[in-house]
Amino acid sequence: MRAAVVKTFGGPEAVEVVETEVPEPGARQVRIKVAAATLNPVDAGVRGGFFGGAGKQIGFGWDVAGTVDATGVATAWSVGEEVVALDPGMVRPLGTHAEYVVVDTDAVAKAPATVDAVHAATLPLNALTAEQALELLELEAGQTLLVTGAAGAVGGFAIQLAAHRGLTVTALAREGDEELLRSLGAAHFVSGTAEAGAYDGVLDAAVLGGTALEWVRDGGAYVGVRPGGHPEPVRGVRSTAVAVTADGARLAKLAALVDEGVLTLRVAETYPLEEAAKAHARLDQGGVRGRLVLVP
Ligand SMILES: NC(=O)c1ccc[n+]([C@@H]2O[C@H](COP(=O)([O-])OP(=O)(O)OC[C@H]3O[C@@H](n4cnc5c(N)ncnc54)[C@H](OP(=O)(O)O)[C@@H]3O)[C@@H](O)[C@H]2O)c1
Repeated sequence: MRAAVVKTFGGPEAVEVVETEVPEPGARQVRIKVAAATLNPVDAGVRGGFFGGAGKQIGFGWDVAGTVDATGVATAWSVGEEVVALDPGMVRPLGTHAEYVVVDTDAVAKAPATVDAVHAATLPLNALTAEQALELLELEAGQTLLVTGAAGAVGGFAIQLAAHRGLTVTALAREGDEELLRSLGAAHFVSGTAEAGAYDGVLDAAVLGGTALEWVRDGGAYVGVRPGGHPEPVRGVRSTAVAVTADGARLAKLAALVDEGVLTLRVAETYPLEEAAKAHARLDQGGVRGRLVLVP
């Protein structure tokens, strides 16, 4: 099968599409025939060597939508079922940017029924991250949340999931993003900066750090997206960061929210797997709204 990997860290030109063995599922694993897989900021970090692994072949891709193609022992899935999954890992020989991927059974969920695989592939990583970040914030209905980087994939899901929980959401994004973010459920919109000490919680998807923590009220909560890179707590503000984990049961609930119209799946462009390097180059340019999706 073909798979996109990096062997020598670098820019988009470092992305290689190689021929490799189709992986076999072990116990409590399934093999998915990949229909679509998204490209995320973490893949650019992997490509540049941010997470280490020099001298190894490292596969790209965490998100997948596709069809169960083979099962190991002790799996509840059957061949032919349409699924989505999160396959996290900074340094491993193969990821989801491939024709087939083997994932743990408990990372898998039934795909949403109302969207195609290209859209479904945009769900796992960033909706799970947004949901797990909201859990860390521990806010209650009626409280206020500021989401930075709100037009991004994590930010967009965070707005929708927070509004669904009854939070009053302020989106912080680029000037041109206001209409989009209000359509996702943001009650308020700011660009550039926000009011100091005004919010019960901040989800900092734009990685603004200490600046964003200043927007949290005394005793509120800050959640970042770089584990270990969150700012020091001040004024009694709790400061932590989300580190997404695979969770098939939670992913199934998020897929149901897609089918109920609560979550919007946003695709920017699709690329054939062979053109993975082109997709990386587009990601590096910035300003992408919706996800870039690879189709093997
Ligand atoms: N810890 C975890 O488990 C985890 C999981 C998933 C993602 N992440 C991280 O979370 C972050 C967000 O991911 P993503 O996929 O949502 O990225 P994304 O789609 O690129 O979104 C980031 C958004 O932030 C915007 N932005 C950046 N600086 C800004 C500023 N000063 N003011 C307003 N908007 C600004 C960007 O706008 P432009 O495009 O115009 O620059 C973009 O819309 C990334 O750093 C990613 O690596 C962490």
